[in-house]
Amino acid sequence: MCGIVGYIGSNRAYDILIQGLKRLEYRGYDSAGVALVDCDGKLKIHKSQGKVSNLESIASGANVEGHLGIAHTRWATHGEPNDINAHPHVSQSGMIALVHNGTIENYAVLKKVLMEHGYEFKSETDTEVLVQLIEYIKLTSSCTLLEAVREALLQVEGAYAIAVVEQNDPDTLIVARKSSPLVIGVGENETFIASDATPIVGYTDQVIYLKDNEIGVIRRGEPVQVLSMFNNEPSTINIQKLKLSLAQLEKGGYDTFMLKEIFEQPSTLRDCLRGRIVDNCRRVTLSGVDLNQERFKTAERITLVACGTSWHAALIGKRLIQDFCKMPVEVEYASEFRYGNPVLNEKDIVISISQSGETADTLAAIELAKAKGAFVYGICNVVGASIPRTTDSGTYIHVGPEIGVASTKAFTGQVTVLTLLALSVGQLRGAIDDATLHEVLAALDKIPETIEEALKVDPEVKKLSRIFSYAHNFLYLGRGYNYPTALEGALKLKEISYIHAEGYPAAEMKHGPIALIDHDMPSVIIAPSDSLYDKIISNVQQVKSRGGAVVAIVSKGNKAMNDIADFCIEIPEVPECLTPLVASIPLQLLAYYIAVNKGKDVDQPRNLAKSVTVE
Ligand code: AGP
Ligand code: GLU
Repeated sequence: MCGIVGYIGSNRAYDILIQGLKRLEYRGYDSAGVALVDCDGKLKIHKSQGKVSNLESIASGANVEGHLGIAHTRWATHGEPNDINAHPHVSQSGMIALVHNGTIENYAVLKKVLMEHGYEFKSETDTEVLVQLIEYIKLTSSCTLLEAVREALLQVEGAYAIAVVEQNDPDTLIVARKSSPLVIGVGENETFIASDATPIVGYTDQVIYLKDNEIGVIRRGEPVQVLSMFNNEPSTINIQKLKLSLAQLEKGGYDTFMLKEIFEQPSTLRDCLRGRIVDNCRRVTLSGVDLNQERFKTAERITLVACGTSWHAALIGKRLIQDFCKMPVEVEYASEFRYGNPVLNEKDIVISISQSGETADTLAAIELAKAKGAFVYGICNVVGASIPRTTDSGTYIHVGPEIGVASTKAFTGQVTVLTLLALSVGQLRGAIDDATLHEVLAALDKIPETIEEALKVDPEVKKLSRIFSYAHNFLYLGRGYNYPTALEGALKLKEISYIHAEGYPAAEMKHGPIALIDHDMPSVIIAPSDSLYDKIISNVQQVKSRGGAVVAIVSKGNKAMNDIADFCIEIPEVPECLTPLVASIPLQLLAYYIAVNKGKDVDQPRNLAKSVTVE
């Protein structure tokens, strides 16, 4: 989730662009750059890895004049964070510059065709393919930049918000979007564009939110034009008044980054799944697996290593791989694995899971596994982080920067990728039948909409949180796929509300923990209508009979539990293996609202860091 800023008007574009990039810093990025079209019609590019301040230092002393410009903070998806892969990207002739937010799924195919026509590429990015394609179309069809942009985008599969400028036309800025946001700020004889409204605040409060498959044509001194990508017809323009403050805008109108990240899970999972479920939900494409098929076919054991929430995702991954690949699977805390002297060889695959890609214990576990001859596969959210640069292969979860310390969208992204991986390897090993594969993939393909549905319990959970904000202890109980979900729900509550909470396999209660149950020990019990439902009902009854309050997470329409539990929260029905993805939503919300009721800093809880880079 990077940031784009653009300006056309009578002021110096550079100053506005740099300030705009700084306002987008909260979105997370790994490099930044600007393209300026100055008064003598020269296109100038300044870009560098790292912070916007790095960009400012490399641009200081350079000619940064010009009343038209575009700028970008990158969140890498294709190609490591470095100066060359930083945006803006420029066409072969040097005449067209482009910045892009999103991913171009078919970039490899397009790149191959362009190379056959003599195009050379400097970067590893998907974005550079787009700017070269625009130039190729413009030159071979002798058409305008606008026509070339439109034709190129009709050939692109994926997500994009782009801004394009041309050296020979200092009076035109072209933007377009599909699945990635883009806002146009309409000022007095000047126009702004950005990924969200934060760079625009203070210059104008008149904004146009571009819709999917629309192109914006901004010409100096003329009204903004918005065209449909498909028929080139003008779209109705709806200029709105910006009401949110800068602070509110950074959080997308939510009170905190954590709440924003909980509610953006439908869209982040669309990004995570994009291009990975194919052939009408009958096949998975994960390049990391596809490029290492022999490894995954012949492996005799998989070991998952991670920490914290990522370790909970690993526990779910264990069940998925057992169920769909019929392979022996182990799960280890990375901190235990690294000192546990594991017995490994070249028939072992070790899968590391890490949102940040910088967790010291996980990195050490990877290095140990490699030293012992295992093939190491990484599941990570940050492109170019230490862990993906150390593993033999891997898959990015593509959920965008996770700012809140308590992991939410990264957890569901990790579980989603683990599901894809288990299905892909299961099919590779002939361990899964086509019907099961299709059933699970079809449900997974709809999981963004399913989670959208699950989020509708928000008001109910917010109300329920008021009853339990005074608790000093909590038990979270689940079975099978939802024992890890219980652990994750407990961790969410612990780390942001500072209430002690324990996750337990529900059947373990009778082996000791049930002694804890009384009026002061509420339990959250995850009880979807799955293969273990009848078993978990008796666990609910055991807790109730000892005076413990029970919040049950049940499948939609299950009214029977209303007669047993004190409170029921309904979640949409999904195949059993996908229930953690859906059941974790009310647990994230419950922890969030209890912490807010207690006045805690949910984005930066005490004693915690977003990435634990020390032992
Ligand atoms: C989870 O909410 C915590 N932020 C923490 O447990 C985290 O999952 C753990 O530190 C692992 O981090 P990683 O995924 O970046 O490796
Ligand atoms: N896919 C592009 C890249 O990796 C853009 C990523 C972004 O949204 O910043 O450069």
